[in-house]
Amino acid sequence: MPARLIDGKAIAERIQTETASEIARLKAEHNLTPGLAVILVGENPASVAYVSSKDKMCTRLGMHSLRLNLPASTTEGELLAKINDLNFDRTIHGILVQAPLPPHISEDVIFAGVDPTKDVDCFHPLNIGKLALGDDSGFFPCTPAGIQQLLIRSGVPIEGRHVVVLGRSRIVGRPVSLILSQKAKNANATVTVCHSRSANLAEICRSADILVAAIGVAHFVKAEMVREGAVVIDVGINRVEDKTAAKGYRLVGDVDFEPVSLKAGLITPVPGGVGPMTIAMLMHNTVRAAKLRHGIE
Ligand code: GUN
Repeated sequence: MPARLIDGKAIAERIQTETASEIARLKAEHNLTPGLAVILVGENPASVAYVSSKDKMCTRLGMHSLRLNLPASTTEGELLAKINDLNFDRTIHGILVQAPLPPHISEDVIFAGVDPTKDVDCFHPLNIGKLALGDDSGFFPCTPAGIQQLLIRSGVPIEGRHVVVLGRSRIVGRPVSLILSQKAKNANATVTVCHSRSANLAEICRSADILVAAIGVAHFVKAEMVREGAVVIDVGINRVEDKTAAKGYRLVGDVDFEPVSLKAGLITPVPGGVGPMTIAMLMHNTVRAAKLRHGIE
């Protein structure tokens, strides 16, 4: 039987609606408008598109949005100075510096320069450290938090299940493994993290109740790597050439969708699966940052 699709777009939309009501409440009861600053350095077309969609979403939900477009020639020191201004700006509760940054700027230095209480991306070492320690006073990074929400809101039990994560990136693989293995509600999973050097990869993947593919290789996960009835979460966004497509390419995930969907129990499509969740969790984190700043429950 073909797998049931996890509709990330619909789930993200529900989260946005919840966030918009929370923003309306904060305005009405506390005279507080959550604010997000997004910094873009250079003109990477994918980053320009991401930043615009974040900007639009802030406006749609009733959030204050500040966008800084800086030239690609901006120095590390100049960028740090802008971030420092925002760290002290009382109208701004979340700061996001869009990655990737130009090669002359160290992402490590920049992410560490963001006030950890405004680090809605959860890229600051302090917040990643809190996540590793199981301290929930920081933030959950947006894409991994979105994956957890997709599972919860699709009724997938996580506790005690075997989750196999393909990929150990800082943005997805490593943090999602930390979130799902936490000693906490909607977590408590047994997590195995695999990567390009893992032996017996197919065998390990076949033992997964929940398989999270975040390896960045188009169609990497084949049907023979998936157990009958497993839940498959595809985090990949890969461009493959397609002369029939308007842009000359189309986006595909890390999962060989057609054959895998005949075997899986539940699966996320690309696009329309994990993608829309990232921005939904960013908005959620910004509201959380504003509430924490003002001591609001
Ligand atoms: N570039 C791609 N994804 C992300 C993200 O989630 N946050 C930031 N800051 N940059 C990104």
